[in-house]
Amino acid sequence: MSYENLLIENRNGVLWVTVNRPDKLNALNRRTLGELDHFITSAGEDETVFAVVVTGAGEKAFVAGADIGELSTLDPVEAKAFSLRGQAVFDRFERLAKPVVAAVNGFALGGGCELAMACHLRVAARNAVFGQPEVKLGLIPGYAGTQRLPRLVGKGRGLEILLTGRNVSAEEAERIGLVNSVCDQPELVATVDKLLGKILANGPLAVSHCIEAVNHGLDLPFEDACLLEATLFGIGAASEQMSEGTSAFLEKHKPVFRS
Ligand code: COA
Repeated sequence: MSYENLLIENRNGVLWVTVNRPDKLNALNRRTLGELDHFITSAGEDETVFAVVVTGAGEKAFVAGADIGELSTLDPVEAKAFSLRGQAVFDRFERLAKPVVAAVNGFALGGGCELAMACHLRVAARNAVFGQPEVKLGLIPGYAGTQRLPRLVGKGRGLEILLTGRNVSAEEAERIGLVNSVCDQPELVATVDKLLGKILANGPLAVSHCIEAVNHGLDLPFEDACLLEATLFGIGAASEQMSEGTSAFLEKHKPVFRS
């Protein structure tokens, strides 16, 4: 598939995908959502890809939401399908067995905030602005914002942000756990590189199992989630990576997980 609205850059096995509709503040129209779907599926299947970073073109916006022009004409059946489609695409980001980081470089509103929340980690530039302003348009978030936001920041805070539709600054987003860290805009790429450098130095299977345990475990009863953890722990014990990691520690040298 050739992409009209995405730019892809492979930086040593880390795929940077840039949503590229700067004249519309990178709003997600149908075409762009379809391209993101294709992109994330391919990234999951490609063994030479170790991680994914999502960002937006320009210095003003990460993604300013779903394309309001498109969604304004939907009938109820189409609107439900529109919501389910976006939820499914964003699920694929969350369920990727490799780290996915949002490098939030500006407005992350509506579908943009939802896309960032579907990523495993979020690094924000100081000028980034988050929010779910859908209520101001007479609608609710449709790409799982009503679910992921309270899971990240707590029910009370999540509801307050959803019900007011207000903006959340990068500084507040960091304080309430909506983002992992904040940096100056020119440092965004280097900050994400540094974060991923730390993650990718670890055992890839262990990293992937942590993602799976957290993703699936949080929606299970505690006992079942712990059983899932124990099962993944057991599978890890069969891997060469565990053998490499533990013997490197005992032999007092650094493990090498990727040749
Ligand atoms: N869907 C479609 N187009 C959008 C958009 C969206 N979600 N967000 C911005 N755009 C378009 C604007 O219509 C404008 O296009 P135009 O130049 O053809 O008129 C262009 O992007 C620039 O946006 P503009 O509003 O002029 O920039 P601004 O700096 O004055 O305001 C925002 C920036 C982000 C505050 C404002 O664009 C906004 O509120 N966007 C909608 C956010 C939203 O409600 N998202 C949830 C959607 S469900």
